[in-house]
This record gives sequence, structure tokens and C-alpha cells, in this order.
Amino acid sequence: MNPSYVVNDPRDRLIVALDFPEPSQALDLVCDLARDVATFKIGLQLFTAGGPEIVRAVIATGAKVFLDLKLHDIPTTVAKAVRAAVELGAGMLTLHLCGGRGMLEAAVAECAPDLLLLGVTVLTSSDETTLRETGVESDVAGQILRLAQLGAEAGIGGLIASPHEVRMLRERLAGKTIIITPGVRPSWAAANDQKRFTTPREAVQNGADYLVIGRPITAAPDPREAAQRIIAELED
Ligand code: C5P
Repeated sequence: MNPSYVVNDPRDRLIVALDFPEPSQALDLVCDLARDVATFKIGLQLFTAGGPEIVRAVIATGAKVFLDLKLHDIPTTVAKAVRAAVELGAGMLTLHLCGGRGMLEAAVAECAPDLLLLGVTVLTSSDETTLRETGVESDVAGQILRLAQLGAEAGIGGLIASPHEVRMLRERLAGKTIIITPGVRPSWAAANDQKRFTTPREAVQNGADYLVIGRPITAAPDPREAAQRIIAELED
């Protein structure tokens, strides 16, 4: 496990999701939060709109980028994409663990020490019906654990998990896997479309290392104040 991702300062636990259609909106927010937030998540929407340029622009502010591209392809293609992310300077990158051992090992082989690979198990939008439709016979929890163990065996350093899976994964996984959890809502924020969320403090108590939070900050009247409130809760 890469020691540079072990959280030493509780302030570093917060990752802000830049879910914006326009790269300029994302960059304005990064500049606004530059003194408070160390890492920003760029997902499919913003990466498709802004490409590697927006990644470089965020890194140029001194922040780290979590590239949430959820890679899933043949091993060679995924390995080349991992190499491209290393060259771009991304700090974290997601891939689907259901891509299998060959894909995961190819990704790990192309990874560099500064890039943390994060495995996605079962998306929270999937349920048992989705698993059956795609030929998976186990229940959701069983599939999450199976994929998490596969990722750990292949050398994937981190996992994305919903706040409600974190405790089970911490108990069942040997070794120190970094766990990042979205679906977090401070008590004072709107739930939006998140249904099974926890507060930042509960997520950390359950064993999460990092929290991904978007709209409670990005849609707040004063995003900086919202981020500082969340950090204060984490430091408490
Ligand atoms: O705005 P909000 O805090 O809900 O944003 C959460 C971020 O985490 C979004 O970028 C969303 O795509 C992502 N995410 C999530 N739930 C998951 C996986 C990812 O909300 N299960």
C-alpha cells in the first residue's frame, strides 16, 4: 500500500466532486477552495467536456486530482489508460473490479507510486435484479466482498464503497486497503438524490479514509464555508 495515501491530517479526508458541465465552473470552485481542500474528483461529465486540459489546470493550482473514469476494457487498453493517467499527473484513478484479474494486474503493472488505483465493486445503482440480469448469482454483499478480495489480490490499493459497506469491508479485508466513500451528507445539508447516506463523522467512524462530497459544497451559497464546516466536523 502506498504510504502517501494514509491520512495524517483529517482535513485531507475531504475530496470535492467537481460535477460541472463547464470546465470554467469547476476551475472557479477549485480556486475558491484551494486553501481548504487538497483533492478534487473529476468524473465522466467534466472529463468528457474538459479533457486532459481540465485535469492539468486543476493540478496547476497545487491540488490533487482523483480521476473517476471507472475503466473497464481489455487488459492492454486499460493498462495504456493507466499509463496516460500517470503521465497526466492524476493522484487517484477508478476502475471496475469486475474487469477481472487479468485486467487488474495489467493496470497495476503500468501504475506508478504516485497514482492510487481504486476499485469499484457493485455500483449503488445496481441491485440483485441487475446482478441476475448480468449472470451474477450471488447477492450484492457477497459480490462486493468477492470483487474487493480480487482487487486486493491483484494489488489494487484502494476501494470505492458506500458508507454502509465500509464497516463490513474493514472487518473482512485483510491488510490496509484505502477506502473512499461517496454518499455522505452533513446533517445540515440536503440529501439530494442520495438515499442511504451517513454523516462525514459516521463514515470515518465506520472506517472510511476519504469522503467524496459534491453538492453539499458545490451547490452551497458559500462553498468555502460549507467545506470548512465539513472539515471542522472531521477534525472534531
Ligand atoms: O453531490 P454528491 O455529494 O451526491 O456527489 C457524490 C459524487 O460521488 C458524485 O460524483 C457521484 O457520481 C459519486 N458517487 C455516488 N455514489 C456512488 C458512487 C459515486 O454518489 N455510489
